[in-house]
Amino acid sequence: MAKQPTGSTMSTGAPAPSDRNSLTVGPNGPVLLHDVHFLEQMAHFNREKVPERQPHAKGAGAFGVFETTQDVSAYTKASLFRKGAKTEMLARFSTVAGEQGSPDTWRDVRGFSLKFYTDEGNYDLVGNNTPIFFVRDPMKFPHFIRSQKRLPDSGLRNNHMQWDFWTSNPESAHQVTYLMGPRGLPRTWRQMNGYGSHTFMWINAKGEKFWVKYHFHTNQGMAFLSNAEAARIAGEDADFHRRDLFDAIARGEHPSWKLSVQVMPYAEARTYRFNPFDLTKTWSHKDYPLIPVGTMMLNRNPENFFAQIEQAAFSPGNTVPGIGLSPDKMLLGRAFAYNDAQRNRIGTNFHQLPVNQPKVPVNTYMMDGQMNYHHTGAAPVYVPNSGERSWADETGPAEDGWEADGALVRSAYTLHAEDDDFGQPGTLVREVMDDAERDKLVDQVAGSLLGGVRSPVLERAFDYWKSVDPETGRRIEEKVRAGSAPRPAEGMGES
Ligand code: HEM
Repeated sequence: MAKQPTGSTMSTGAPAPSDRNSLTVGPNGPVLLHDVHFLEQMAHFNREKVPERQPHAKGAGAFGVFETTQDVSAYTKASLFRKGAKTEMLARFSTVAGEQGSPDTWRDVRGFSLKFYTDEGNYDLVGNNTPIFFVRDPMKFPHFIRSQKRLPDSGLRNNHMQWDFWTSNPESAHQVTYLMGPRGLPRTWRQMNGYGSHTFMWINAKGEKFWVKYHFHTNQGMAFLSNAEAARIAGEDADFHRRDLFDAIARGEHPSWKLSVQVMPYAEARTYRFNPFDLTKTWSHKDYPLIPVGTMMLNRNPENFFAQIEQAAFSPGNTVPGIGLSPDKMLLGRAFAYNDAQRNRIGTNFHQLPVNQPKVPVNTYMMDGQMNYHHTGAAPVYVPNSGERSWADETGPAEDGWEADGALVRSAYTLHAEDDDFGQPGTLVREVMDDAERDKLVDQVAGSLLGGVRSPVLERAFDYWKSVDPETGRRIEEKVRAGSAPRPAEGMGES
């Protein structure tokens, strides 16, 4: 029977001599190199941090359950979405551009990452609180993120750089209108919606394929912060959103979201008015109404932030049978990026950490590497083998595949009648926002442009907004020329 240590131990389990005094030659004498406990403490402290996520560094999350309450078997055979299935899950919410310690209430898109520990393996949905995104080609993503982060010389955030990128990439207009508009700054994570954003594939038991978009609607009611509130909170409590979620769950107030999907029959993608795989567009709800699926509830706080949130590894490439990707170039780029980032950020065998481990047996031929823990003993390590270890051998058309051919090109999407950049943001401004919301949009954009945006980017920004909506663009220009907009509160300074 193992003896319980009365004090602390070393990492070997042997009793630690002292956590307060190092070993010295006499009370004032030099510290000794053979004080292994002291050396271990010093060395491990130097290695306590892992690199933060490149984007989405500041965040937090909680565990919960997803329950499928509706029959959607006509569209997917995924066991997670079988009526009555209850699946354990993890959610992580985040800001995009800020670093680990940055205030939660800076104006930014919010990440909405979900990991479902299904009985067919882990399924991740790594979305945002907006149904669209800034760019539609993954080649642009690193440039986009750099333009939102910090200047190379001063290390300061910079409005000029942000607007330079946005106005040089007009496909950003829909997402920028959303971000600068009344829904751009959620009051709490509990009070925001989440979206898969991309188009994904669902496959039913008959092998029929559908294109889907995920919508998680908050049951707490949506609520937003004004710039003034956000600025005050950023100063008073930089961890406002993190604290709100943790405290609510600790009080027994378990936030929940209803999942609905829009479903497009597979063949309609070819003839839809715009490219349905374009991440800068939403699908009309009239064309594809919401179909309810189930409810996600977060009910358990992490016991350890580092082990369960910082080391959590989400990837849009993690799918399960019945769910696939789509020809969205952004999604395909992401399918590589995340696990690669995690090999660097956490380590080669990050999948083996408890928070990332699937709840089903794993039989992977990836082996060894730093910190490898699971192994297959003496079983064959190669395929094909004549031993008793099974391997995968699918041939022919991929169940979750689609048709593609043509010459190799570098090109934007050009196939559909309404593949423009400004139509949907224009509709958002004119038909979704009311007068008061349009006023806020004008103030917010003008305030941001007054934060040090220079010519020729400034003139380009006026044209960008006039292309979204002529009247809104005119009002923004007028305010900026008069210097009369309230200055922004999102931590982005002039430089
Ligand atoms: C080609 C485009 C993109 C690339 C290359 C990319 C890359 C990355 C990388 C490398 C990370 C850090 C992963 C980690 O260290 O664990 C990350 C995090 C994240 N990204 Fe993306 N991203 C892209 C687009 C998007 C889009 C379109 C969305 C939402 C619709 C999104 C949502 C997120 C979220 C929510 C996280 C945080 C994940 C977490 O909570 O751990 N990203 N992204």
